Amino acid sequence: MEQINLPQLPLSVEWKEENLFLLDQTLLPLEVKMERQDSAQQVWDSIKALKVRGAPAIGIAGAFGLLVAAKPHLELSEAEFLQALKKEADFLDSSRPTAVNLHWALERMLKKAQENQGKSNEEMLRLLRDEAVAIQVEDGQACEAIGRHGQDLIQEGMGVLTHCNAGHLAVSRLGTALAPMYLAHLAGRKFKVYADETRPLLQGARLTSWELQQAGLDVTLICDNMAGAMMRQGKIDLVIVGTDRVAANGDVANKIGTYSVAVLAQHHQIPFYVACPFSTLDFSTPTGKEIVIEQREAEEVTQFGERRTGPVGIQVANPAFDVTPHELITGIITEKGIFRPPFGQSLKAAYQP
Ligand code: MRU
Repeated sequence: MEQINLPQLPLSVEWKEENLFLLDQTLLPLEVKMERQDSAQQVWDSIKALKVRGAPAIGIAGAFGLLVAAKPHLELSEAEFLQALKKEADFLDSSRPTAVNLHWALERMLKKAQENQGKSNEEMLRLLRDEAVAIQVEDGQACEAIGRHGQDLIQEGMGVLTHCNAGHLAVSRLGTALAPMYLAHLAGRKFKVYADETRPLLQGARLTSWELQQAGLDVTLICDNMAGAMMRQGKIDLVIVGTDRVAANGDVANKIGTYSVAVLAQHHQIPFYVACPFSTLDFSTPTGKEIVIEQREAEEVTQFGERRTGPVGIQVANPAFDVTPHELITGIITEKGIFRPPFGQSLKAAYQP
C-alpha cells in the first residue's frame, strides 16, 4: 500500500544531515520556519515553549533531541556515556509532564542503549539515530492506520468538531484526530470540520484551521464557547479529539476544554471519539486522577498575544490539560482498530508492552 502524505504541509520534526530541525509552531499561521536545534537546552526550551507540541511530535522530538544532547559526551568512556545519556533523557523528559509519549520515546531510546552496552560511543549514536528514525516512521504508520480505521465514522454531509490540534503538525504525518478527516477527504467525501480556537494558546485557530485549509478541507473556525450552540443547531454530528495520555481505565487527558466538549456532546447525544497511537496509552496510571496536569504561566491567560487583557495582579488558573472520564467516550480510535467500552478491558487485551 502506498504511503499517504500531505505535500502541502511541513513536517514538525525533521532529521536532516545529522541535524535536528523543528518547525517553530509558535509562528504559525504567519510564518513557516524550521529551526535547527544545537543543544539539549534548546530542545528543552522548544518543547516547553510549544515550538514543537502535540503528544507524538514531542516524543519524536525528544528521541532526536537525545542525539543532539549526546553529541558533546562522545569523548567520555562508554560507561560514562551511558550515564550521560540517562541524565540528558531525564532532563528532556522534565520539559512537559502530561504527554506520556515524551517519556515513552526517551525510555525506548535508553532501552536501546542498555541493550547495546559495550559498543563504541559512535556506534551507539548510530544505533540510537536508527531508533529515533524508527519511532518517527512507526508513528506515521500508526497515524495512517488510525485514519483508515476512523475514516468511515465520517459520512457525506456531516459536521465534525475537533478541539486543539491533533493533526499533521502534532505528529509525524497526518495526525491522530485529523487523520480520519484527511482520509475521508481523500476518499472524496464532502463534510464540514469545525475547529475550536482553543484558548489560551489558540492551537485550533493557529494550527488546526491552518493545516486543514492548506490541505483543502472545508473548515470553519469557531471560538471555544460556540461549540454548545453549534451542537444545539444540529451542525455537529461527530466529535474527534486527540489525547496526551490515556489511563488504564480509559480516562483521557487532552487540551483544556476537551472535558467541556465531551459533556456537551453527551448532552446532545453526539458520538465523542478520541484518537491516539498505542504509544499514548499508559497502563501504569490507573485513572485520570493520577495524571499530572501541566500548569502554565499566568501571562498566557492575562494576555492575548502582546496585549494585556486581564487586570494587573489578578489571580489566574492555567492548567494546560483536563481529564475526560471514560464514561463520556464513545470509542478510542487507534492503529489497531476502534476500541469500545469498557476500555480498561478492551485496550489491555490488545496491549503488548
Ligand atoms: O499543549 P499542546 O499543544 O501540546 O496540546 C496538544 C494536545 O492537547 C493534543 O490534542 C494532543 O497532544 C494529541 S496530539 C496528536
